[in-house]
Amino acid sequence: MDPKKSQDALKLQAAIASLQYIEDDTIIGVGTGSTVNFFIAELIKIKHRVKACVSSSEASANLLKAGGIEVMELNNAGTLSLYVDGADEVTRHLAMIKGGGGALTREKIVAAASQKFVCIADETKLVDVLGKFPLPVEVIPMARSYVARELVKLGGHPEWRVKEIDGAMKPVVTDNGNWILDVRGLTIADPLALETEVNQITGVVTNGLFVKRGADVLLLATPTGVNIIFKSAQP
Ligand code: 5RP
Repeated sequence: MDPKKSQDALKLQAAIASLQYIEDDTIIGVGTGSTVNFFIAELIKIKHRVKACVSSSEASANLLKAGGIEVMELNNAGTLSLYVDGADEVTRHLAMIKGGGGALTREKIVAAASQKFVCIADETKLVDVLGKFPLPVEVIPMARSYVARELVKLGGHPEWRVKEIDGAMKPVVTDNGNWILDVRGLTIADPLALETEVNQITGVVTNGLFVKRGADVLLLATPTGVNIIFKSAQP
């Protein structure tokens, strides 16, 4: 089978497995990305069971609304019982790198405001050590160059995230109006320490290490089924 098709089939399996964590008539936190898009499609099928959602991005909010699900502001929703999101990399200790889709800040906020974080992923996302995937760092635009120099001091190789618009390369602008640096080459031996250190750089909004608030449950889809991995004590 085409590798993309088989990876999509695994993403769908992980998304379906996460439905068991939904409690009727509750407000659900919804992440962002291609795996979450499968989750949103499944959620729309059972929308009668869902009170509303809080979204981590405009993209997911648009899909939810198009499917007839109410999208609430987090400020009006209180503590959420469940947050479902994907990851770019995840360890067996449920630490993650996220932000490949640029939604890291809102994802981190909704995850922080949720009692349970269920990560849905296909088996390609599982790693022993985080850091092969470049670490996304959301920055206030005027601080981009300063933050990049500070990240170089930490051993990283930051790259300004751009995309082609009308034939010209333009900065990717997050839903919060900020820019993203993708940092390669960092040694992530202590992910919690690095998450804290990068967040201390003035001008950083947040970085894509999700360790302080990692996932509680990982639903890892493999060709032989979905493995359920719970958070252990070790980070
Ligand atoms: C978006 C994210 C996504 O969760 C992450 O990029 C995984 O995306 P996908 O499911 O498309 O592989 O953090 O900011």
